[in-house]
Amino acid sequence: MMHSIVYLSSSRVLLDEREMGNIIEKSRINNAEADITGVLIYCNGSIIQVLEGDKDAIHSLFEKIKRDDRHNQVIPLFQGPVNVRSFDNWAMGYSTPASRNMDELKDKLSFIEDPYTQAKSENKIFSLLQVFFKNNHRN
Ligand SMILES: Cc1cc2nc3c(=O)[nH]c(=O)nc-3n(C[C@H](O)[C@H](O)[C@H](O)COP(=O)(O)O)c2cc1C
Repeated sequence: MMHSIVYLSSSRVLLDEREMGNIIEKSRINNAEADITGVLIYCNGSIIQVLEGDKDAIHSLFEKIKRDDRHNQVIPLFQGPVNVRSFDNWAMGYSTPASRNMDELKDKLSFIEDPYTQAKSENKIFSLLQVFFKNNHRN
């Protein structure tokens, strides 16, 4: 069974593009090796990340991420089984939303268009991303 973790955090200092790029680059290598996929959205100092994969694999990664001092105030929003991967082609997708809506992200979310995978967990994860966009994006 596929599992997912979604958490919120705050960057300790305003991470610049280069530092965030280093985190993402490292994540893509490690996650590909551990068969973990997901997305990280960074917006005005706030982070939301979705991790998905084998339960033990994502929990041990989450333990490592929680100890990373480049962010703090890590708040888990969702931990549990999911039917499908929502980001199956992303070892770690990355976005700094510059647009007013989630169109860019929606293109990547296979399950939104697929009526057969409208499971509760997947909808919950999408709702969490939507609320994050709404609360953190400044026009
Ligand atoms: C917001 C945030 C998200 C991160 N996401 C990941 C991730 O998805 N995968 C990963 O391997 N490391 C991630 N990291 C980095 C880890 O905390 C850690 O530095 C890294 O995994 C160490 O890799 P190593 O054990 O190969 O040296 C993240 C760090 C931060 C601050």
